[in-house]
Amino acid sequence: MENMNWSDLAFGYMKTDYNVRCYYRDGKWGELEVSSSEIINIHMAATCLHYGQESFEGLKAFKGKDGKIRVFRMDENGKRMQASSRGIKMAELPVEMFEEAVRKVVKLNERFVPPYESGAALYIRPLMIGLGAQVGVKPAPEYMFMIFVTPVGPYFKGGFKPSKVCIMREYDRAAPQGTGTIKVGGNYAASLVAGEKAKEKGYAAVLYLDPKEKKYLDECGPANFFGIRGNSYITPQSHSILPSITNKSLQQLAADMGLTVERRPVPVEELATFDEAAECGTAAVIAPISQIDDLDIDKSYVIAKDGKPGPVCEKLYNKLRGIQYGDEPDTYGWVTIIE
Ligand SMILES: Cc1ncc(COP(=O)(O)O)c(C=O)c1O
Repeated sequence: MENMNWSDLAFGYMKTDYNVRCYYRDGKWGELEVSSSEIINIHMAATCLHYGQESFEGLKAFKGKDGKIRVFRMDENGKRMQASSRGIKMAELPVEMFEEAVRKVVKLNERFVPPYESGAALYIRPLMIGLGAQVGVKPAPEYMFMIFVTPVGPYFKGGFKPSKVCIMREYDRAAPQGTGTIKVGGNYAASLVAGEKAKEKGYAAVLYLDPKEKKYLDECGPANFFGIRGNSYITPQSHSILPSITNKSLQQLAADMGLTVERRPVPVEELATFDEAAECGTAAVIAPISQIDDLDIDKSYVIAKDGKPGPVCEKLYNKLRGIQYGDEPDTYGWVTIIE
């Protein structure tokens, strides 16, 4: 990897050396297998292809100044994947097996973990699919769990910059009592039309409102939302958003910094009162928001008038990145060093 330009990497797929796989058959999970093939061979009548029995996760490994590789809160991703399995009737993978698979796939692809200086990371993508030939709508008899990894570039190439997002009231990403709280492929398919439309109009993301009443903030396409007002960190509570591990971590760090954390339904009009606002998730950690346009009612909320990220967002961003890269103490045991 000597001639690799790590800082120029995009958030995209690049072939690495190995992936790991594990099958659930006859009511139990088998041994973890290592593969160097990028291809999976599955039956055309597999339930994942027809009825959307598919879930995935996303987490990262970081190389520190000390050369050690750190994975961030993988137990949380393991637990969330179990929640996804319960939500669409797939087999649950024990968290210990999930963690073993993460350790193994990262270790096997060690040479693809970008160096500290690059600001890049190794993205880890676990997924689970329903297998077996079946035509009726019912859960699959067999499942496959796998993880591949791919190095990804720093999210903010030109520095930590706020962007515009939009509200499009005619689209929902999830139903009020549907699958919004779990990480299943169908949610992302459902968000593609609105997402592409927002991009065409020059927005970084769609900020969804609650699908039942359209009164409260939900989350952005692939990230949670939070606002800062005075000394408060305010983030939506809802039955249709994914519990973000980044958001959960930021809430802890915000409380440690002396902020009051409010997790509650957030009326859309409250946007007018925020000093700062941001998207948060594994990909960007924090992506500050400069302006929110509620397109259907022609209303704009300007958050960052000077086009710069706010001081609280910046402080939280530096703190969390510091823990992930090993520059800050890991007070809560969030980091696993891959030996
Ligand atoms: C819909 C959605 N919300 C929020 C997030 C952020 O979650 P996390 O911080 O665990 O990456 C993601 C990404 O996983 C997502 O897909």
